[in-house]
Amino acid sequence: MCGIVAYVGNKQAYPILIKGLKRLEYRGYDSAGIALFNDEINIYKKKGKVANLEEYTEDKNISGHIGMGHTRWATHGKPDDTNAHPHKSGNSDLAIIHNGIIENYAPLKEALINEGHVFETETDTEVLIHLIEELQKRDNLSIEEATRLALTKVIGAFAIVVMDKKDPGKIVAARKASPLVIGIGDGEFYIASDATPIVEYTNQVVYLKNEEIAVLTNTGEFSLKTISNIKQTPSIQELDLKIEELEKGGYDYFMLKEIHEQPKTIADGMRGRLSAEESWIRLGGLEEFENRITKAKRLIFVACGTSWHSGMIAEYLIEEYARINVEVEYASEFRYRNPVLDEKDVVIAISQSGETADTLAALEMAKEKGALTYGIVNVVGSSIARLTDAGSYIHAGPEIGVASTKAFTGQVTLLTMMALSLAHKKGTLPKSDYSRLLAEFENVPVKIEKLLKSCDEQCKFIADKIASASNALYLGRGLNFPVALEGALKLKEISYIHAEGYPAAEMKHGPIALIDENMPVIVTASNMSSYEKIISNIQEVKARKGYVIAIVPEGEKEIKKTADHIIEIPETEEIFTPLLTVIPLQLLSYYIAIIRGCNVDQPRNLAKSVTVE
Ligand code: AGP
Ligand code: GLU
Repeated sequence: MCGIVAYVGNKQAYPILIKGLKRLEYRGYDSAGIALFNDEINIYKKKGKVANLEEYTEDKNISGHIGMGHTRWATHGKPDDTNAHPHKSGNSDLAIIHNGIIENYAPLKEALINEGHVFETETDTEVLIHLIEELQKRDNLSIEEATRLALTKVIGAFAIVVMDKKDPGKIVAARKASPLVIGIGDGEFYIASDATPIVEYTNQVVYLKNEEIAVLTNTGEFSLKTISNIKQTPSIQELDLKIEELEKGGYDYFMLKEIHEQPKTIADGMRGRLSAEESWIRLGGLEEFENRITKAKRLIFVACGTSWHSGMIAEYLIEEYARINVEVEYASEFRYRNPVLDEKDVVIAISQSGETADTLAALEMAKEKGALTYGIVNVVGSSIARLTDAGSYIHAGPEIGVASTKAFTGQVTLLTMMALSLAHKKGTLPKSDYSRLLAEFENVPVKIEKLLKSCDEQCKFIADKIASASNALYLGRGLNFPVALEGALKLKEISYIHAEGYPAAEMKHGPIALIDENMPVIVTASNMSSYEKIISNIQEVKARKGYVIAIVPEGEKEIKKTADHIIEIPETEEIFTPLLTVIPLQLLSYYIAIIRGCNVDQPRNLAKSVTVE
């Protein structure tokens, strides 16, 4: 986690760094800090948001043409001013910002203490800068060589930027597992965790590869090598990102903007990939491997959080339509449990950020065991996109709210196309059904548009009724079970209300004991295939005085009689219902969080991109 931004060139660095940090704040907001070179390295850092740092620096010397900034998501050491980055070396000549974890910091720290080093913070990062200092001093090394050598001695994940007062026109940047991108301007460089702080200055970028170290100077020199000291040639790419995509566009929060973008992002995800008129689906990344995938022994989806929920929807769809065996695994469990895996398996990672450490590690393991790897990713050029053998982008555009919304529907759209395409290829779905489903698929964005309008006021109204609850239960059957899980996750992460998602029929095996008049029970009851059964589940809740909010198909009559509130969704084929039922659940959590005074875009303890284990 954490956001890194740095600048070396002829402009004033401070405004670039502060603006960049605001763009990166979604990655972590425990503290913010900057280092600026101006004869000395001046470091300013403050607990909390970038705004605190800005206020703190109002009366400080903020001039300097070289500098770096950091927003932290603490792993080692509490979030306070002292542990905030940047960190200095013992002699104060060097400064570092770091994203990731130095796993062997404890023995390194002990050895350095024995050499006489004194530490001011509890962070693992400070150990790294002292190690660089020690190596530099011992053999009189340049900053880049000392940094490179130090990195051969650390275990863990990192993206780092280092400055040296003795070598002031230069910045050293390196990465392993955590991302780093370098923007190339006119005799200047911008370095950041993602391209969002760079986009307004240049569209020429180099994504640092794993275990690469770059040296960037204010005279426009860019040299690149691996940490093991092999010279590399930077490969420059053109950035495809617009500034408007990074702004709130009139909405109070990014999350609300992103919820409302869904009709467009879903349509974008389908564009050029689906034609109902000509009855085809073409997923570029899939076509080349479709044969291997349809013949695979198993498809194993690995993901975390919301992306894991999308994986569950994929399991239901691919098994039902394409009749291929599917498993869905939490990446963090999968990577450590020595799964039986071979070259007949296909491992598919789903990730919005493309940087989630556990998902990346699961993929690496799958590759080692010879499985074909496939990535379903939103962030273009991200680590997962680059690591996998093949893949498809969801094209949802930058998602900035920490709670995932449009990435979820983007993933589900892509996975639904994948399921239908595989089914068509395998011949497990009659042609007429395939054509009918494609025709309806194209209507989904318009139906979501309509739903966003029709359910907004209702969601506000219901939010007001249940915002003071301490717990909530989300129930769904079939495809709507993962949607229930997603609804519960949305509520807990942004409103801090404890919520559980359950298969509706499982409720009677335990959770029913929790139900009383104070328990809101949100039931996604749109699937007609299990309609009668879900009506019974609702009756069971009502019999225990539960407060029922039901998401039902337009014109539904039975549930209306029993539920306390209903939200109608436009009629559609069952296969597409998750794309619709999740919308009111997103809005409901949003409005509840607003009523409770929560910071929707930056919920406590969380960060958008989880690049640590
Ligand atoms: C969702 O709202 C989350 N904040 C979180 O669960 C997220 O989905 C998870 O961390 C996975 O991230 P990824 O999709 O970027 O890999
Ligand atoms: N491990 C470092 C710390 O706790 C960096 C964490 C981060 O990526 O923000 O300070």
